[in-house]
Amino acid sequence: MLNEYQNRRKILLSKMDEGVAFIPSGSYKTRSNDTEYRFRQDSNFYYLSGFMESNALLVLIKLASGKSQEILFLQKNDDVAEMWNGKRVGLKAAKKILLLNKTFDIDTLEKVLPKLLMHHQNIYCDLFTKDEVMQKVHQIVQTTAQARNNTFLLRAQYQLPLYIERMRLIKSKHEITLIRKAVEITKKAHLAAMAAFKSKNNESEIHAVIDYIFASHGAVSDAYTSIVASGDNANTLHYVQNSDSLDKKDLVLIDAGCEYKMYASDITRVYPVDGRFSLAQKSLYNAVLYAQLKTIDAIKPGVTKSEIHQVCVDALTSEMLDLGILKGSFEEAISEKKYLKYFPHGTGHWMGIDVHDQNPYKEDNGDEIPFEEGMVMTIEPGLYISKDDMNIPKHYRGIGIRIEDDILVTADGYENLSIDIPKSIEEIERAMQVDLSNYL
Ligand code: GLY
Ligand code: MN
Ligand code: MN
Repeated sequence: MLNEYQNRRKILLSKMDEGVAFIPSGSYKTRSNDTEYRFRQDSNFYYLSGFMESNALLVLIKLASGKSQEILFLQKNDDVAEMWNGKRVGLKAAKKILLLNKTFDIDTLEKVLPKLLMHHQNIYCDLFTKDEVMQKVHQIVQTTAQARNNTFLLRAQYQLPLYIERMRLIKSKHEITLIRKAVEITKKAHLAAMAAFKSKNNESEIHAVIDYIFASHGAVSDAYTSIVASGDNANTLHYVQNSDSLDKKDLVLIDAGCEYKMYASDITRVYPVDGRFSLAQKSLYNAVLYAQLKTIDAIKPGVTKSEIHQVCVDALTSEMLDLGILKGSFEEAISEKKYLKYFPHGTGHWMGIDVHDQNPYKEDNGDEIPFEEGMVMTIEPGLYISKDDMNIPKHYRGIGIRIEDDILVTADGYENLSIDIPKSIEEIERAMQVDLSNYL
């Protein structure tokens, strides 16, 4: 699929004025002292190169004539460094594999870059990055511009991520295949988690089952830290401790999705620890499910995220009134935003190489970007009732529900990519009876 990366570079170049664009790779992040987190490639760099090493810099040059050059600075082969930290592709192979015009040793940046900047006026880069290589690039650009009395360089600097992230909004067939695969693996993980409640007693064990299934199907990472939140923990939206013991009477909210070959999935379901929803749990769950299905059904090209958010808010508010969670009229609940106390977040977000894909929600003129075929968005309404909320009937307290699916916008509507992950009460209760050994 390498031509896909090259095509993206060409499209980006076609959107540029004459000038030089810089896209740095990801870098290792310190966990503590001299230990590091597992390396994750930068999303925009990956989107344009497909290259998986750190300490690299993609440089796209466009001449006034319209001609262009695609260049990569990267680490050269080095037996000792490779023995410690793993194989490097190397300059020669990278040029051929990635279909580039030139490759340079990243250690020669100071020497080579001033020459590449010659006669150019416009710079395209992330103006706000703290990336080390880019700090160096900024310095070289400044020094080169000063050396030339600012006659050429720095006529304008453009915020490059905006261009790339707009392109990332519409997913190609290949990208959709990878997202489908991520969702398929995540489905297996949720099925195993459901089956695990019969024999596991702690959130951490359920989390471990999920990670095991991700890894054993080729997804070496989660797309975000999984949330395994039992009982009142589900009311902490970003609960990631995942270390409490499980109480038979509780529900467990699991928001977990793997990353497969750089593409995310993002799925939330809620499961009863003992395999059966109580009446109160059922009522809250079905209220959120009703709103989620209604919202998903409103998705089609031309509709905007705000419009579907309103569908979701209306549906969930009327459910909250029916359940006695909100009091008064529907109109008042909406106009005074009373629902916000129990549904405090958005309805969904773009998803792709990043779980919260770095795509714009608005056009440059401020208009909202309407749905278009090939976009992928999560739909994830939730209802959160704190154990300490004395305004709410006792049997609803300490319950947090969110239901989340990954939706592809199609030419005439949508496709729910996660449609076959058990979601109705009946489907979940049935899936929870399966023996865990079936999935391991
Ligand atoms: N798991 C992150 C989210 O649902 O947005
Ligand atoms: Mn999400
Ligand atoms: Mn999620």
